[in-house]
Amino acid sequence: MGSRGPCRGSALPSSPSPLLLQTVVQTSMTRSQVALLGLGLLFMLLLYVGLPGPPEQTSWLWGDPNVTILAGLTPGSSPIFYREVLPLHRARRVDVVLLHGKAFNSRTWEQLGTLQLLAQRGYRAVALDLPGFGNSAPSKEASTEAGRAQLLERVLQDLEVQNVVLVSPSLSGCYALPFLMQGHHQLHGFVPIAPASTQNYTQEQFQAVKTPTLILYGELDRVLAWESLRQLRHLPNHSVVKLRDAGHACYLHKPQDFHLVLLAFLDHLP
Ligand SMILES: *[C@@H]1O[C@H](CO)[C@@H](O)[C@H](O)[C@H]1NC(C)=O
Ligand SMILES: *[C@@H]1O[C@H](CO)[C@@H](O)[C@H](O)[C@H]1NC(C)=O
Ligand SMILES: *[C@@H]1O[C@H](CO)[C@@H](O)[C@H](O)[C@H]1NC(C)=O
Repeated sequence: MGSRGPCRGSALPSSPSPLLLQTVVQTSMTRSQVALLGLGLLFMLLLYVGLPGPPEQTSWLWGDPNVTILAGLTPGSSPIFYREVLPLHRARRVDVVLLHGKAFNSRTWEQLGTLQLLAQRGYRAVALDLPGFGNSAPSKEASTEAGRAQLLERVLQDLEVQNVVLVSPSLSGCYALPFLMQGHHQLHGFVPIAPASTQNYTQEQFQAVKTPTLILYGELDRVLAWESLRQLRHLPNHSVVKLRDAGHACYLHKPQDFHLVLLAFLDHLP
């Protein structure tokens, strides 16, 4: 896909939903205009339909009220917004870092209940807004492959995440894959969900990565699932799970299955 690939800016999402609207609008307006418009839209939405509803046939899971979701910005000149949960009971050995696809942001993992579930299960988890999404400003650094890997590495250091398991759907592959190629020794686990930019690396590069990997994709994904699977299969320690009746954003379409598979993978990491 080269320089015009998915790593450059946002394209139009395939189906309209309140979450997506902001991304579409953002291409032609300033951030403050978008913020105002976003607030307006949200307000109208709350008036008319209550809280934002699920895209497609999602069974939207409500979070555990006992889990507190913290939020903050990383220090430094181009701060990254994050949402974080701490283990509710005893802490596990790994921390989970959640990236997001083009039509989403860190809030998706709160709405889906993933953050809350991980906290209940004893994991610290951090969901990031990638530059130019959610509450993170666009960053010049994000325009190159090396810059995206560096940015991710710095965020992990700033947030002092230990033994990272990186969950990377779709567009976020533009960050996760360059990071994996050079920094896989820092990763305890990798969960690619039809990530972008796998075609940019060679079979040999994948073979050199020993990180335990759970490859997830939706049965109905005609976008990136096959392309990425073809490449990710070269990772020496991987398992593959196909979520039935789920599309490209398979975690949204089958959140319960997604959560079960993710927890099973996390719980069995060495
Ligand atoms: C929240 O915590 C209280 C006290 O520990 C417990 O009784 C309750 O079941 C918890 N709620 C949920 C949804 O887990
Ligand atoms: C693909 O790799 C080349 C060379 O390693 C790099 O210059 C380019 O930015 C990469 N493209 C993407 C989309 O990551
Ligand atoms: C492969 O990954 C699993 C966890 O998914 C781990 O238990 C196992 O030790 C790994 N095998 C090797 C050879 O690293």
